[in-house]
Amino acid sequence: MKEVKKICCIGAGYVGGPTMSVIANKCPEIQVTVVDINEKRIAAWNDEDLDKLPVYEPGLKEVVAESRNKNLFFSTEVDKAIDEADMIFISVNTPTKTYGKGKGEAADLKYIELCARNIARVAKDDKIVVEKSTLPVRTAQAIKDILHNTGNGVKYEILSNPEFLAEGTAIDDLLNADRVLIGGDDTPSGKEAKNILSSIYEHWLPKERVLQTNLWSSELSKLVANAFLAQRISSINSISALCEKTDANVAEVSRAIGKDSRIGPKFLNASVGFGGSCFQKDILNLVYICKTYGLSEVAEYWDQVIKINDYQKRRFAENIISTLYNTVSGKKIAFYGWAFKKDTNDTRESAAIYVADTLLEEQAEIVVYDPKVSAEQVYADLDYLNTRSEAENRRLVKVVNNPEEAAKEAHAIAILTEWDEFKELPWESLYEMMLKPAFVFDGRRILDKHYMKSIGFDYYRIGEGK
Ligand code: UDX
Ligand code: UDX
Repeated sequence: MKEVKKICCIGAGYVGGPTMSVIANKCPEIQVTVVDINEKRIAAWNDEDLDKLPVYEPGLKEVVAESRNKNLFFSTEVDKAIDEADMIFISVNTPTKTYGKGKGEAADLKYIELCARNIARVAKDDKIVVEKSTLPVRTAQAIKDILHNTGNGVKYEILSNPEFLAEGTAIDDLLNADRVLIGGDDTPSGKEAKNILSSIYEHWLPKERVLQTNLWSSELSKLVANAFLAQRISSINSISALCEKTDANVAEVSRAIGKDSRIGPKFLNASVGFGGSCFQKDILNLVYICKTYGLSEVAEYWDQVIKINDYQKRRFAENIISTLYNTVSGKKIAFYGWAFKKDTNDTRESAAIYVADTLLEEQAEIVVYDPKVSAEQVYADLDYLNTRSEAENRRLVKVVNNPEEAAKEAHAIAILTEWDEFKELPWESLYEMMLKPAFVFDGRRILDKHYMKSIGFDYYRIGEGK
C-alpha cells in the first residue's frame, strides 16, 4: 500500500480547516498543508493570537496550537502544495447557483472544476483526490473526466469522503464520529485508495466506523442524511403550528414520540426554523437531481421540507407583528441571537436574517445582540438579500455589545438563537428597562414560561398557545 506522507487540502473554510487540523493532530507522521486563495483567511489561520482563527469551534484552537507549524501548515501557495501532496482534499465552497440553468437549486460547481483543472495542470505524480465538499451525485465523474484527460500519464483515484460535522461541535464530531464514509471505485486501485484513506481515520476511530461504498452511494448519502435531519425539524415545526392553535404543547409531543425507539429523541426541537450552510442547499440539490431524472413526485416531496421551513420563519415574524397590535412600524425589537445556532459565529441561512427582513418590511427598528456575530456580518447578511438599500439597513438596524442595551426601551425581545447565556440573563432588570407591556417571543423555547410570566412579561413561544 502506498504510504501517504503529505496531504494538501484546497479550501480553508469551516470544513477544511477543522478537519485537517484534527487529521494533522492525530497523524503526526503526515504533513498536512491547507491552502486557500483567500490571503486574509490564511493569515487568520496563521495568527499568533489563537482567538483570531477564522473559524470558532470549541476545542479547535487547542488542536491548532498543538500541531501548527509542526505538521500542520496554512498557506496560499496552492500549486506547491498540490505538487508535493500524495493525497488532495477538495473542500471549496459549492454555493447554490445564482444564475443560469438550475438557478436557486443546483450547486455551483465552478470552484470544484477550477480545483480539478488546477490539479491536472500541476500534478507530476500519482494522486488520490478526495471530494470533501458536498456535491451533487456524479460530480466525481466530472472531476475524473478532467483529471484523466490531461494526457501527462499521471494516475488519479477519486474518492468521496463527505463531512458530517455539525458546527459548534465540529471537533467532537470529528474525534468521535458515528461513521466516516468513503466512496470510491470498486477496482483494485480504487479499493486500495479507499483503504489508504481509511487507515488515516483509523488513527483514532475504530475500524467498524469507517464505511466503504461506491462513489455514487457516498455522494448521495451525504445529501440524504442532511435531508432526513432537516425533514425531522420541518415535521416537528409543522406540528408546532398546530400546537399553537390547540392546547397541545410541542415539547410534550416531541418527548412522547421520541420515546418510541423507532423514532428516537434527537432533532425534534421545534424552532424558528433551521439554518446553516448545508440543509437548504443540500435539499435543493436533491430536488434538482430528482427533477433532472424526471422524478417530479420525489422532488416535490423533499421541496416541502424547505417550504415548511420558510413558513415557520414567516409565521414567527407574523406572530410578532399581530401580537404587537398589528403594527411594528417605529417599534424597537431586540433580537437576541443572530447565528444560525448556538456556539458558532456562522450566520449562513440563519432564520434571524429572514425574520428581520419581514419585520424591516414593516418598518420595525431592530437592535441585535449576539455574543459572537459582528455588526459587519449582520449588515452583510441583510444587504445580501437586496430587499432595501444598504443605507436603509443601517438606519433601521443597530448592533450592540450587550443584552441590556438591546432591551432598553424595546417593545419586544425575540430570541432567535439558543445561546446558553440567554437563560441566565437578569430578566427582572431587563423587564424594568423595556416599554410596557413587555413582550418576549421565544423562537427557541429556552426560557421558563412560569418564571417569565411571574416577572410580568407577555411571553410567547413556538409550539404553545398563549
Ligand atoms: C464548503 C462547502 O460549502 C460544503 O458544501 C462542503 O461540504 C465543504 O466545503 P465550508 O468549508 O463551510 O464548506 O466553505 P467555506 O467556509 O466557504 O470555505 C471554502 C474555502 O475555499 C474558502 O475559504 C475559499 O476562499 C476557498 N476556495 C474557494 C479556494 O481556495 N479556491 C477556490 O477556487 C474556491
Ligand atoms: C448539519 C448536519 O447536522 C451535519 O451532519 C452536516 O455535516 C452539516 O449540516 P449544522 O448545519 O452545522 O450541521 O447544524 P445542525 O446542528 O445540524 O443544525 C442545523 C439547524 O437546525 C440549526 O439552525 C439548528 O438550530 C436547527 N435545529 C436542529 C432545530 O431547529 N431543531 C433541532 O432539533 C435540531
